[in-house]
Amino acid sequence: TDVKATNVHWHDGEVSREDRNALLKQKGATLWFTGLSGSGKSTVAVALEKALTEKGHLCYRLDGDNIRLGINKNLGFSAEDRAENIRRIGEISKLFVDTGVITLSSFVSPYRADRDLVRELHKDGEMDFIEVFVDVPLAVAEERDPKGLYKKARAGEIKNFTGIDDPYEAPLQPELVLNSHEMSLEQEVETLLKVLSERGII
Ligand code: PPS
Repeated sequence: TDVKATNVHWHDGEVSREDRNALLKQKGATLWFTGLSGSGKSTVAVALEKALTEKGHLCYRLDGDNIRLGINKNLGFSAEDRAENIRRIGEISKLFVDTGVITLSSFVSPYRADRDLVRELHKDGEMDFIEVFVDVPLAVAEERDPKGLYKKARAGEIKNFTGIDDPYEAPLQPELVLNSHEMSLEQEVETLLKVLSERGII
């Protein structure tokens, strides 16, 4: 990123992240769901959000379409815009984690370098970052086509559509892989809850 903000410094208050985690009886963390459009990222994030809330945990979902309707409405789908989309969301996720919230970020995030940057941002802040690859074959995502976007992409009405005429770089070492076409939603949620519990997040 082109850094234009110079002579600025982080200012600590008198309440720490640990204080907030203690207050919430959990540890803030980012679960980063990546995968093709239609892979089931949002579906599993929605189900996990419900399960966590029922268990008394504070979590919040950041989602592709919602973020693009607001803070990132000035970004499109070129590689450059996707990189800036993911960078901003990475920073927003960090802010949420700092508040103690379990943050469920679901974005196509097709470029490895963009996701790795978010991983580094969390590492720098000594924050948990759990990359969850929602992995289904393109044929499955295309068959689901919940928003009819693959159909439009095949017809040439949408350009640079991930998986059709734009790349998706699969994670090399994700913390977790979910094959949403071979698992029930309940199994996916159970798997995620187990990871969160093993890491001392919940
Ligand atoms: S990215 O690549 O991470 O910046 O994308 P993201 O912010 O997650 O937005 C993806 C959603 O936008 C819709 N959409 C597209 N996706 C991929 N490629 C192109 N060209 C495109 N145009 C629009 C699509 O509905 C994605 O939503 P999901 O929920 O993933 O299906």
